[in-house]
Amino acid sequence: MTHTSGPHLGKPVDIFQKCFDFEDANMVRQAGMYPYFRVISSAQDPLVVMQGREVVMLGSNNYLGLTNHPEVKEAARAAVSKYGSGCAGSRFLNGTLDIHVELEEKLARFVNQPAALTFSTGFQVNLGVISCLVERGDVVYLDKLDHACIIDGARLGFGTVVKYEHNDMADLERRMALRDRRRASLIVVDGVFSMEGDIVNLPALVETAARHGARVMVDDAHGIGVLGEHGRGTAEHFGLEDKVDLVMGTFSKSLASVGGFIAGEARVIDFIKHRARSLIFSAAPPPASVASVLKAVEIIEREPERRHRLWENTRYMAGELKNLGFDTGESQSPVIPVIVGGDWNLAFLMAYRLQEEGVFVNPVVAPAVPPDQALLRTSYMATHTREHLDRALAAFAKVGREVGLIS
Ligand SMILES: Cc1ncc(COP(=O)(O)O)c(C=O)c1O
Repeated sequence: MTHTSGPHLGKPVDIFQKCFDFEDANMVRQAGMYPYFRVISSAQDPLVVMQGREVVMLGSNNYLGLTNHPEVKEAARAAVSKYGSGCAGSRFLNGTLDIHVELEEKLARFVNQPAALTFSTGFQVNLGVISCLVERGDVVYLDKLDHACIIDGARLGFGTVVKYEHNDMADLERRMALRDRRRASLIVVDGVFSMEGDIVNLPALVETAARHGARVMVDDAHGIGVLGEHGRGTAEHFGLEDKVDLVMGTFSKSLASVGGFIAGEARVIDFIKHRARSLIFSAAPPPASVASVLKAVEIIEREPERRHRLWENTRYMAGELKNLGFDTGESQSPVIPVIVGGDWNLAFLMAYRLQEEGVFVNPVVAPAVPPDQALLRTSYMATHTREHLDRALAAFAKVGREVGLIS
């Protein structure tokens, strides 16, 4: 018996051949403009140190400026002193600490859901939750621009995946109307789209879901701490907290650490606890991360002014980038893209030149965005000062004119 279609007696093919043939990264390296894995030797603050120079950071998801907050760092230190550096196992077995449970209760209260469950990364939340909920015969509806880990979670499940046009509720409605109503369904959507910075049309989405008896899961990686009167995210922003079935969040952005959570009905969370493979077969979030997030949530609740400052900075930059003549797409959040278009080299060149001028931005090309929509992703922090932002704007004006993107 053989697993191939027939015997082949030539030289065996090396599985690594694709790596030896891979030239994409080298081409950009050879042009001297490689923008990935850049080394930073300081905290994720508004100014970071790169190759001994201070650079204005417009590429971080530290929206509220908490990753280098003295109280957050002190909480992490105290947790290491008490619990050590790791949990040495899965939440499912030996890895559940009292602070995991305390954090889950706090997060559930924070997002106004009955129960929550923490995972070691946000990516693992989406992998584990979507794949265990969407079984054979079920359907999962995804926005075309949903985050990669939503797509991968759906791929891991055994159900049918249906993608609808970005934020196009008429298209979602059309596709849902075609479905066999005996097939259970889930809609999974980003609250704030991570590259474009626009916000899901949640009012229309939850109406469509209700009409078709579908459940709704919102990935609020970029909404938690940022949107809503209390920073509870996209559902709070729209006053629709009772219409969202599952809220997913990550600790790697406003919550100042690494890890993630899912929140929803207790029976559903209990099912996920016993079925999500990325939870069960992976080590628990370490004590320092858990303690950092507990402190970060406390600060978010105590200091709404941080969020207000973030929004002041966001409004300022959105206005000024537009005044300079840049196309910032449909952004409605502290993620503001500067759209470059189909020329990826131009995106790499601009990111390179901006760094030379003292500003860090992330160039984003396909598959993270559609091929004709290469962009520079800029994102803002509550802790940026006007002086930091003006420095960045001056660099954008200079580089934008130099490459002919603005006049
Ligand atoms: C929308 C969205 N979901 C999920 C994730 C994954 O989160 P984490 O960094 O915690 O793995 C990200 C992070 O980039 C994200 O932007």
